[in-house]
Amino acid sequence: MSSKFADRIARVQPSAIRDLLRYGDDPSITSFGGGYPDPALFPTAELQQVYADIFAKESATALQYTASAGLPGLRAQIAKRMANGGTPTDAEDVLVLQGAQQGLDLVAKLLIDPGDVIVTENPTFLGALIAFNPYQPEYAAVDIDEDGMDVDALEATLRSNGGVKFIYVIPDFQNPTGVTLSLERRQRIIELANEFDVLVLEDSPYRDLRFEGEQLPTLRSLDTEDRVIHLGSFSKILAPGVRMGWVSAEPAILEKLGLLKLAADTQSSTLNMTAVTRFLEGFDIDEHIARARVVYRQKRDLMVTTMNDAFPAEVAVTRPEGGLFTWVRFPEGFESAAFMVEHALPEARVAYVPGGTFFPTEERSNYARFSYSGQSDEAMVDALSRLGEILQTEM
Ligand SMILES: Cc1ncc(COP(=O)(O)O)c(C=O)c1O
Repeated sequence: MSSKFADRIARVQPSAIRDLLRYGDDPSITSFGGGYPDPALFPTAELQQVYADIFAKESATALQYTASAGLPGLRAQIAKRMANGGTPTDAEDVLVLQGAQQGLDLVAKLLIDPGDVIVTENPTFLGALIAFNPYQPEYAAVDIDEDGMDVDALEATLRSNGGVKFIYVIPDFQNPTGVTLSLERRQRIIELANEFDVLVLEDSPYRDLRFEGEQLPTLRSLDTEDRVIHLGSFSKILAPGVRMGWVSAEPAILEKLGLLKLAADTQSSTLNMTAVTRFLEGFDIDEHIARARVVYRQKRDLMVTTMNDAFPAEVAVTRPEGGLFTWVRFPEGFESAAFMVEHALPEARVAYVPGGTFFPTEERSNYARFSYSGQSDEAMVDALSRLGEILQTEM
């Protein structure tokens, strides 16, 4: 049957980490693998009330088809939140999506011809590679350090690869590393995009989860030539299960993305769009986010401190200023995937995401992503201490 598949499907392959992540379902394993928000933070009671009210008062419209671009009231609320956050945006500049993930797919469909070069951070979000791959791009991966993408390396990459289509960047608390792109580098990326005539895809689902330091401007707000396509999401600040995200971009891009969305799924769920709109009208989402920030800061502190205490000194751990992840660098030559299968899982009963698959061009084996969002304090400390002991013996 596979001989009937289109050529592009050759690039649609299960990732190696899927096999490893299934250990996360084993209750005897403490998993730091999934990038899931803490379910204790879901505003369950509020959403229950919102959905009940919708069914009582407006089910005829909420269960009906609606405009493909999204409910006007929701687009307006998203625009207001973006404008309040320093990115001037009108409701017409917003297209509602099924999560930011849909934006990655639709932007890829809009922009990538087979063989086009896409610049990504190195490492980058695996879900983006999964979305881009079927459109058959080539990747140029630019290393990142504690201030995000190395902009000198980016310049060299843009110079040596004529006609790069777009630069994909996760500026705030990047997945997988947790690092944040500095202001100077944000500005430089915009300058380089202008100079080399490329677009920028800014993916920022963790933006509101900053628990330390100052909020930095979006690339979209620094954009001087309307080159930035901005993706946002309610997944990490409300609940991923409502599948609500958005894209904001200049009108010609947004119009085409809207047509592609129409083809993909007609529209996002009217019911869930209504619920998110009513939630934003009736409750203070910023107060809710403030609570989440307190919880995640505490969890970040506990994870980083426990790792620094328990892991061998040559293991380096990032200290993110927001988001859900820390990134662990083991010494050169360490195989984090093999170590997980041979030691972390059977001996420490701990799972993490081996870092290799986050590198688009050349796998690097000595990294791992740990999420601090999903475990209780006690389980986190116990599991990391067990892992630390085994690392101390095995390294
Ligand atoms: C960097 C990044 N982009 C996009 C997404 C997709 O998020 P959504 O749930 O909004 O589709 C995620 C989810 O983990 C992510 O980490």
